[in-house]
Order: sequence, then structure tokens, then C-alpha cells
Amino acid sequence: MSKVKTTFFCQSCGAQYAKWQGQCSSCKEWNTIAEEVVQKSEKKDWMENTIQARRASQPKRVQDIELGTDHRFKTHDREFNRVVGGGLVPGSVTLLGGEPGIGKSTLILQIALELSFKTLYVSGEESQQQIKMRADRVHDKSDQCFILTETKTQTIFKHIKDLDPQIVVIDSIQTLHTDYIDSSAGSISQIRECTSELIKFAKETNTPVILIGHITKDGQIAGPKILEHMVDTVLQFEGDRNHVFRVLRANKNRFGSTHELGIYEMQGSGLEGIENPSDVLISKKDKSLSGNAIAVTMEGMRPMLVEVQALVSSAVYGTPQRSTTGFNAKRLNMLLAVLEKRAGFKLGAKDVFLNIAGGLSVDDPAIDLAVVAAILSSNADTPIPSGVCFAAEVGLSGEIRPVNRIDQRIMEAEKLGYKRIFISKYSKISNKSSSIEVITLSEIGDFLQEIN
Ligand code: TYD
Ligand code: MG
Repeated sequence: MSKVKTTFFCQSCGAQYAKWQGQCSSCKEWNTIAEEVVQKSEKKDWMENTIQARRASQPKRVQDIELGTDHRFKTHDREFNRVVGGGLVPGSVTLLGGEPGIGKSTLILQIALELSFKTLYVSGEESQQQIKMRADRVHDKSDQCFILTETKTQTIFKHIKDLDPQIVVIDSIQTLHTDYIDSSAGSISQIRECTSELIKFAKETNTPVILIGHITKDGQIAGPKILEHMVDTVLQFEGDRNHVFRVLRANKNRFGSTHELGIYEMQGSGLEGIENPSDVLISKKDKSLSGNAIAVTMEGMRPMLVEVQALVSSAVYGTPQRSTTGFNAKRLNMLLAVLEKRAGFKLGAKDVFLNIAGGLSVDDPAIDLAVVAAILSSNADTPIPSGVCFAAEVGLSGEIRPVNRIDQRIMEAEKLGYKRIFISKYSKISNKSSSIEVITLSEIGDFLQEIN
């Protein structure tokens, strides 16, 4: 009898070791290394048969490879199409990661139900009845969507051979297991092997495959990092579970840009794509309130207006509190220091709370000026007039710095009916014939004069 071959894997980052150790030398996590059986049995030729039965790939000259007219599978979901670069590419493998309960299964099922291609949705997490219940909540239904509850890749390939679907969805990669590896489902070696089987299937039959993946507590896709290298596209579905907005972004895309972003709203009947995010992100008010400022940010390639809300109050305890939601706390501290030094504001004895309305998280430096404006407005308890918005970065010496795509930002603000926009003096504007008043500033001091 041959000896069982085992190796030690870090369950957090996927690093491989010959023997056990307490701390992973690669990701520095403690107690994450576990022993896994890695023995492979000989591959039978069932998978080869599945692939042979479909189009076999032959070497071809680049010039001879035909793209065809519709070389992407377009879904009905415009946000999804935009993020993946116009549709699913035949033979591509897309990995969708996100926190539990954020709506990954809902998003993909919804897309599968709207497709006019034959789709196989393989679930290892929910029963057919549970998926049916979910499908009943989202309205559009196609008669081309097949549901399979199975976790063994060999059986899945057998069904694929019988059904011949044009798109395959796996929910989730962590529940799959292959006979060729003896370790349990969800272990690093199983995830890696199942993914490579699916990639092989996708490439050789030209079928797009969508994999749903769990993420670990620090936001990485569970399983080895190599998983992200193996697939063509890595999508991340994120958002605050207590808010209705969800953001779909591409972290890696071999067939398109990674700057695109999809915004959804979770409703009782599934996820609804939001065409015009600025409309929903800014709260409608009858009169202006102090501490609110509108910033024009870019999320990917889309300009978007968000509302920055600040509250400045006297600190009750010795150390003032600084708290942020949706904005980097270190950046807030930096902006407060700049205000203290360059504008003479004594904010050291004040509590400052900052919030981006709508539960979005923004890391575009262009919202700096809106943050400063919101803080000053709250501090003076004077509202910023309605119809004013901001798009500029604030530097350490108090200079107002230009930001990218300023024309697009100005156009978006104008489209939404804003009357004045504050930008950096050094921004290069090519389109001057706008109905919006553009106010250019070079440093914080100018800004204080302008608003007084
Ligand atoms: P789910 O897709 O199961 O998340 P994941 O697969 O990422 O774990 O999402 C489940 C959540 O979505 C759950 O909290 C209920 C909510 N939901 C709605 O609000 N409306 C709906 O129409 C559906 C189907 C789910
Ligand atoms: Mg799920």
C-alpha cells in the first residue's frame, strides 16, 4: 500500500509547508496551518470525453482566429455588463467574491434567470427548492435556466455533457470537491484543483464560467491567492449590509478595464441596477443644513455626486473624538491638521464626526475640499448654500490641488442642476462654455475668503 501523501497549507493565504509550524511565514497569521492529503489518483478520461465531445482547440495563427460578431455573452444586467467590460467572454472564468449575505447568489441567479442562453446554475449551498423560492422573488424568468445541486466536479461535468449549457455558474467554489484529491471540501488543495478543472473545461469548450467565492474575515477571497491569478476576472461585491446600496467592482479583468463600477440597490424583489447614482445618494432636503457639502467624485469612470456630512462639537472629554464612516480616518486627521495650521482653526478641542451619506465608502482625494467645507460649515453652524459643489484635493501645505477628469465632473454637476463648483486653479478645463459657475482656488485661505 502506498503511503498517503500530505502537505501543510496555510488556510489563510495558501502557502505550502513540508511540516507544521505555529505561524505562517508568508502571511504571519497564527494557527492557520493545517495538514491536507494531496494524493492524486490517476485521472480517468471522462473529462477528456466531455471536452472532446465539444469543440477541440487547435493551434491557429492570430490572424486566422475569428472573433465573430457577438463575441461576448451580453446579459440583461447593464451594470454587470459594464463591469465585466461589455459582457461575458466565451471561455472566460469569472470569480465573484463578497461577504456572506451581501447578495452574491441573488445577483448571479438574477442574471442567469434573465439570460436567453441555456444556463446551468450549480449550487452546493442551497437546495433546488430554496433556489426556486429565491427565483420567485426576482421577477424575470427564462425557461433556459437549469438548477443543479451537486458538489462533486465529476458529476457536474457529466451533467454538463448531457445538458450542454452555454454558461455555467458555480455557487460556491468552496463547496466543490473532486475525487482526485482526498482532502475535505473547502481546503486549499481542493479549491485549487476544482478551479483548475473548471478552467480547463472553460478554455477548451469556450463556455464562460462564473464562480462565486467566499471571502475571509479580512476581505480576501478565501483560498489560495493563486486562485485570483488562475481566473480571468475577479469581481468584488461590496457594501454595507445595513444599507441598501451594493457596489460591484472588477479587481482584475483580462478583457476590460478595472475602473468600471456597478451600483445596485437591494430591494424586496432582488437587486436593481442604479443608472444615476447621484440622484439617490444625495438626500433631498427643503432647506440647506449646516455641515453638509456635496462632492463630485469619480467611482471608476463614472462621475458621481455624494454628500459629505460633518458634525463638529465641543469635546466633553480630554481627548477629542474623531470618527468617520465611509472616509479614511487618517485622511480626516490630516485635513484637520491642515485647517489648524493654515487656516487658524482651533479644532483640537472639538469632536469631529464625518459621514458619507448612503453608506458608500469613498477614497477619491477629490472629496477633500468638500470635507473641509463640511467641517467649516458645521463649526460655524452656517449652511453651505444649495447648488454648490466641490471637486479638489487639499495638500499638506493647504494648497488646493487639481484632480483628474475635471471636465467630466463639471459636466455631471451641471447636468444635476448645480450652479457653482469649486475646483483647483491648476485644473485644466477644456470645455469652458458651461452654464455652471466655476470658481478656482489655489489655497485654503482663498477658500475662506470666498465663503465669507
Ligand atoms: P444572498 O444572495 O443569499 O447573499 P450571498 O450569496 O452573498 O451570501 O443574499 C441574501 C440577502 O439578500 C438576504 O439578507 C436577503 C436579501 N434579499 C433581499 O433583500 N431581496 C431579495 O429579493 C433577495 C433574493 C434577497
Ligand atoms: Mg450565497
